[in-house]
Amino acid sequence: MTPPDGAGRQWHAWSVWKTRVLLNGYLPAYAKACAKKATHITFIDGFAGTADSTDWNGESFLGSPRLALRTNPRFTHAVFFELPQKAEALDQSLHSEFPGRQFHVVAGDCNQKIQEGLAWLRSQGSPTSGPQLGPVLAFLDPDALELEWTTVEAIAGWTGQRNPGDYHRRGKKPELLVLFPTGPMRRTLPADKGAKEAGETRKQQVDRLFGGRDWRAIYQAQRAGLIQGESAWMHYVELYRLRLLALGYEYTSAIEVRNTSNVVLYHMVFATCHPAGARIMKAVQENARKVLPAMVQEEKRARRQSGRRLFEESDADLDRYAEAPSKWAQLFDEPPQPFDPSRFQLASASEQLAMGLAFDDA
Ligand SMILES: C[S@@+](CC[C@H](N)C(=O)[O-])C[C@H]1O[C@@H](n2cnc3c(N)ncnc32)[C@H](O)[C@@H]1O
Repeated sequence: MTPPDGAGRQWHAWSVWKTRVLLNGYLPAYAKACAKKATHITFIDGFAGTADSTDWNGESFLGSPRLALRTNPRFTHAVFFELPQKAEALDQSLHSEFPGRQFHVVAGDCNQKIQEGLAWLRSQGSPTSGPQLGPVLAFLDPDALELEWTTVEAIAGWTGQRNPGDYHRRGKKPELLVLFPTGPMRRTLPADKGAKEAGETRKQQVDRLFGGRDWRAIYQAQRAGLIQGESAWMHYVELYRLRLLALGYEYTSAIEVRNTSNVVLYHMVFATCHPAGARIMKAVQENARKVLPAMVQEEKRARRQSGRRLFEESDADLDRYAEAPSKWAQLFDEPPQPFDPSRFQLASASEQLAMGLAFDDA
């Protein structure tokens, strides 16, 4: 059980991978691409965590705030949100390691405090020159369903204001790297036959995640057995990407991260208005996904040696994934499709299976 303040928390390979490999690969490439033109390059970390995190071996690795502040070329500004019980230690640790750098740790729920953080960033410049007119990358990495759509909207709408002094940025939105909590969604919205339907409190939490109730049609279709198995959860990811496109993003993708039991844990959703951002992310993902099988193997080996089993899976699972590393971190970036229940109403679940419209968990 993870203690509430995260103390002593040991991250699994796929969580370590997200920060140590994926984010660590993207940050310098992003900063390098921006530094050619921009005087302000900003990082927003909505769920900053601790200065260091601990992997499955008990070894520490850099958390996202330190990775961001160590990035070369530099982020000129950064704002980090974290819950009060962890924020002070993070603040102290960052100030002692990065004296003189322009960053701010906001203690509190980022959904409530987002405007405070954005106001701090704005106060660092002037109306004609400042972080709000330069490139911004936001990393939104909640544990589960904590990220609310209003926060995504606030960040997405923050940059690119019309400004004669900054024609490069006009209309450009911050890049977003958002953990979509596919695994926690499965637990929040029981969909298996016979399982009790989620109550209204849980549904309202999902409303806040999506900023609306459209997702309920997907849940209804699941509950009715029209869509089944793991592929059904992809409709939520598609809806989320559609919502980002509706905010004005031009490209979105989702990296699907599974565990060795073939269960989807999360989708790392990316949104950008820059073709270069899309190219860089694809290249980073291509490299990063090759690393994940080895990391999971290593975690499994370490746990076996210490008698702490990771999963009840067989070695065949690992071999299967070692042979097909793309399965571990597959990229989806074809245009997302709106969910249309009528597409499923004509076919029975077994016909859907035969037609390839749905598939059961492998
Ligand atoms: C997955 S961890 C973040 C890891 C960090 N981004 C990294 O890569 O090193 C999620 C963090 O979000 C924090 N958190 C949870 N709810 C939050 C909220 N509403 N606002 C800000 N932080 C929150 C938790 O305390 C936890 O430290």
